[in-house]
Amino acid sequence: MASGAGVMGEIRVPVELAERSYEVWVGPGVRHRLSEVVPRDVGRVAVVTQAAVADAGITVDPGVEHKVFITENGEHIKTLGAVEELCREFARWGLTRRDAVVAVGGGAVTDLGGFAAAVYHRGIRAVFVSTTLLGQIDASVGGKTGVNLPEGKNLVGAFWQPAAVLCDTEALDTLAPEEMRSGLGEMAKYHFIADHLAADAGLESLTLPERIARCVEIKAEVVASDERESGRRAVLNYGHTLAHALEAHGGYGLRHGEAVAVGLVYAAELACRAGRIDAERVVEHRRVVGGYGLPVCLPADADADALVSLFSRDKKAVGGITFMLDGPEGIQPVTGLAPAVLRETLEAVR
Ligand code: GLY
Repeated sequence: MASGAGVMGEIRVPVELAERSYEVWVGPGVRHRLSEVVPRDVGRVAVVTQAAVADAGITVDPGVEHKVFITENGEHIKTLGAVEELCREFARWGLTRRDAVVAVGGGAVTDLGGFAAAVYHRGIRAVFVSTTLLGQIDASVGGKTGVNLPEGKNLVGAFWQPAAVLCDTEALDTLAPEEMRSGLGEMAKYHFIADHLAADAGLESLTLPERIARCVEIKAEVVASDERESGRRAVLNYGHTLAHALEAHGGYGLRHGEAVAVGLVYAAELACRAGRIDAERVVEHRRVVGGYGLPVCLPADADADALVSLFSRDKKAVGGITFMLDGPEGIQPVTGLAPAVLRETLEAVR
């Protein structure tokens, strides 16, 4: 897989999925190139965005007739009710099967807008303009779209690959510091995914746009090898079992990426106890996570028993509690870890 520079200096990363292939463009101001990536035969575009994105001055011009649909701010917009509302608005406006949705915002907007595109008229084209670090290196790439139910996050959704993704690094200047930190937790994850023998997957010497493009490239390679998550794609959940348990138990004031950061250190400690990696590799995890200024310890008040019981509710836990753990062959699913070891290791990272 190669990523090349476009004429305006953006980095272009291909996502190779046969007839569903597309490019992710990364760079400052790439949202202004939207008309170049909207498929040529699209007649009209429904731009789905969030009030905070529009208020931050992040607007787009798809180059064809369009209408802007503004949702409320926050993750709570990811509901089936919001999908119905959007689709009804699309229908009232007269959006047809040959038109498209352009979702502009963070992961909540691209998940919601992408899912509305996946189901409206049984699927119309979507383009994502991703404006948060978390969205750029994770949610906007790979075709997972969906909404939450009261019973759990992302329980209703579809694999629906976009026609193109624009990751505008200029938009990151408008992000609150805690939003940025959340993205950095996912970025830390990529240090351990691409090449389990390399210390940093080539990330450490790069500028932020280059680093984002490298993370996208790593994710694109994983998604190309396992689009529907029947196996390898689960490596993208590295560090997430503890993170999801922390989030399900109220979050302890941690943003998603901060919870992933602690989850990465915890996974390394577990892998070490399971004899899969050595102490030096654990230190490497702590160094990378700490290097991003992210937490390496469990919150002091975290309830270890509650977290262990939440591990078995994780989506990957179809055959018992499952952790993605580093090891000699890279990150792999590991089952059968004793609850006592899980609890003892939680205490070790507290
Ligand atoms: N966020 C994990 C994935 O896209 O598979």
